[in-house]
Amino acid sequence: MKIGIDKIGFYTPHIYVDMNKLAVARNVEPEKFTIGIGQDKMAVPPITQDSVTLGANAALEIIDQADKEAIDFVIFGTETGIDHSKSGAVYIHHLLGLKPNARCVEVKHACYGATAGIQMAKGHVALNPESKVLVIGSDIARYGLNTGGESTQGAGAVALLISANPRIMTLENNSVSLTADIMDFWRPLYSDKALVDGKFSNEQYISFFQKVWEKYKEETGMDLEDFEAMCYHLPYTKMGLKAMRTVLEDASEEVQERLKEHYRVSTLYNRNVGNIYTGSLYLSLLSLLELNDDIKAGSRIGMFSYGSGAVGEFFSGILEENYKEHLLVKEHKDLFESRKEVTVEEYEQIFEKTLPTDGSNIELDINEDSATICLSGLTDDMRQYVNKMR
Ligand code: HMG
Repeated sequence: MKIGIDKIGFYTPHIYVDMNKLAVARNVEPEKFTIGIGQDKMAVPPITQDSVTLGANAALEIIDQADKEAIDFVIFGTETGIDHSKSGAVYIHHLLGLKPNARCVEVKHACYGATAGIQMAKGHVALNPESKVLVIGSDIARYGLNTGGESTQGAGAVALLISANPRIMTLENNSVSLTADIMDFWRPLYSDKALVDGKFSNEQYISFFQKVWEKYKEETGMDLEDFEAMCYHLPYTKMGLKAMRTVLEDASEEVQERLKEHYRVSTLYNRNVGNIYTGSLYLSLLSLLELNDDIKAGSRIGMFSYGSGAVGEFFSGILEENYKEHLLVKEHKDLFESRKEVTVEEYEQIFEKTLPTDGSNIELDINEDSATICLSGLTDDMRQYVNKMR
């Protein structure tokens, strides 16, 4: 039985800051951010968006009535969850109006959470071929103003519908995972900002990629020429390239050129959003699938998932006939075009505005936020969500 990705939804907040202007404000040459890091725009989450609303908005654009009746498992991958106990998946289940007889959980391992969710979903569909699983990767990347990681912040979510006989991509069963207990990036429970050893995290990302790729080649007998393209977890768009370059020389000139060009296309959406942690690899896949003009059905796409701390995995998928017809290219073009720029000062004010942590209530103005699903406030320590369509 073929199991894989049947639909892909995406959402990012309606405001962004220009990386050239952020560079000027931080006394850095703009090319460091736009070329050295590889980011043009950074999504800025307003206080009315959190990982739950971003995820629900991403799912909203792909879920129809038939899906609502078939989804019996919601897996919410996030590392910026909103509660230590209750899963964000339950809020999303409610906001989308899914059927009551469904299982809902939140999965955490840094940026690897959504990949773990996809592998669980595959197993679930293998045992229950009629079922559909909604897997969401949703996060807000926060390092802090004037920090080394600031240029790699971002916000957004990708929602994937995993089913039998998928219309976009069949996921292959070969995959290689790797785990090692390291401290390259983490976020203590008391903090809403991540801590990071930047250089070490880059080294570990590359080393994890090399190790899983070598083992994958050994186990499958495949090599670079068997892949039309490779997508990477993209904390910033230069990162995947740095990893890919370390193995490229094994391939012919033609294969190298093809992989580099497809890599470029796979970074276009991420360049304009920033790091969305769990969703980053799938945003890169979406960018490749929606923006390429030469990748044919039957092509194999490699995927490298990396979650600091650390877990890495290399796996692959085969594109289905007419996969392009099932993508929301126009909707995503409109989403990007409808965003509004904020100044660096406005971004800083938005960044500093956080929810109360002393138990007090707050009512938020959701009229400024163009999203369908928003956070409207806190009452007695309970988040209040609104779906404007209801
Ligand atoms: P930094 O110290 O600001 O930057 O840290 P740098 O000095 O290393 O420079 C970055 C690049 O810009 C370099 O290129 C420079 O040469 C270049 P490279 O040598 O690396 O190819 N550069 C220029 N290029 C053109 N024109 C110029 C210019 N000036 C400099 N004028 C760092 C960068 C990424 C470390 C920092 O932003 C950071 O700590 N970010 C957060 C951590 C991170 O993203 N790590 C990535 C791997 S870990 C991961 O992916 C997991 C993660 O997503 C979390 C999770 O799993 O949950 C983060």
